[in-house]
Amino acid sequence: MKILITGSNGLLGQKIVKRCIKHRVPFIATSKGVNRNPECPEGNYISLDLQQSDEVKKLVSDQKPTAIIHTAALTNVDYCEANPEECHQVNVVASRILYEAAKSIQAHFELLSTDFVFDGENGPYKEEDPVNPLSVYAQSKVDAENDLINDPEKYKNWSIARTIIVYGTGFGLSRSNMILWALEALPKGEVMKLVDDQFRAPTWADDLAYGCLEIVLRDQKGIFHLSGPVTRPVNKIVEEVGEALGLTNLNIETISSSTLNQAAKRPPRTGFDLSKAEKLLDYHPMDIQETIPLLQHDLIHYH
Ligand SMILES: NC(=O)c1ccc[n+]([C@@H]2O[C@H](COP(=O)([O-])OP(=O)(O)OC[C@H]3O[C@@H](n4cnc5c(N)ncnc54)[C@H](OP(=O)(O)O)[C@@H]3O)[C@@H](O)[C@H]2O)c1
Repeated sequence: MKILITGSNGLLGQKIVKRCIKHRVPFIATSKGVNRNPECPEGNYISLDLQQSDEVKKLVSDQKPTAIIHTAALTNVDYCEANPEECHQVNVVASRILYEAAKSIQAHFELLSTDFVFDGENGPYKEEDPVNPLSVYAQSKVDAENDLINDPEKYKNWSIARTIIVYGTGFGLSRSNMILWALEALPKGEVMKLVDDQFRAPTWADDLAYGCLEIVLRDQKGIFHLSGPVTRPVNKIVEEVGEALGLTNLNIETISSSTLNQAAKRPPRTGFDLSKAEKLLDYHPMDIQETIPLLQHDLIHYH
């Protein structure tokens, strides 16, 4: 067993590295540029820009991993909307090259995907529900998924892990997340403007890392939905954070999505049916109330 983790500097990538170290799973971590995760030993790290296809192929044939967990992506949805070609190159073309490299050595290929593959009209969603992407980012993930699902050579050693609003903290992350923002803003009494017409199931990054790794360790294939356990409107998610902090009189202003002028269209109501992951992976994710104390502990550790 040897796992190649892409995007190891990202939020999820860092948690998968942490889990591999804790459970003594051999791994190679890669990301663009230098290793920003001091918990990832330099001996396990190889810098790799996934857009350099020859280097990707060489790394896979040199390292011969038994599985690749592909977390790296352009993840800023509005940036993708404004830069569709770059989004396609990173999220679709680079994923395809990595998948073909995995196939060439018969390795398992696990692709990270998103609830945004759905249009949000009929959530919560099961793995087999039809997709209908509303944005450039969402379309890129559908295209990357389809390279696996519709493989003309019918290669079966792959999985897709779809997830929803991932939260947690790590070293030198390139972007924040809603719950971190709330942890900072709420105690200061800063006003938070939040939509009440988008429903999500926020996902603790450590739970997601567990699910992603279990797929490989249990040799599972196909699509898996891995999110937090409860779907609620975005304003309620942040209210839960306030409650977990013991705060009253939260300064939350409720707004409608139409007033936000976001470049990329968002699905109104997602959320996942987690039965498949519960049954096959023993995936039992924590909800916000349980994770906030852990996140506060992490904030001390990581900064
Ligand atoms: N976060 C969410 O709420 C969410 C929700 C649904 C699905 N997902 C999916 O889950 C996965 C992990 O998300 P995340 O939040 O951990 O992402 P993240 O923190 O944004 O990390 C993504 C990583 O990908 C790397 N990357 C980007 N372009 C690259 C390239 N050309 N070559 C090599 N590495 C590259 C980035 O490197 P740099 O740091 O060096 O830029 C970054 O470390 C993604 O596939 C995402 O689409 C995330």
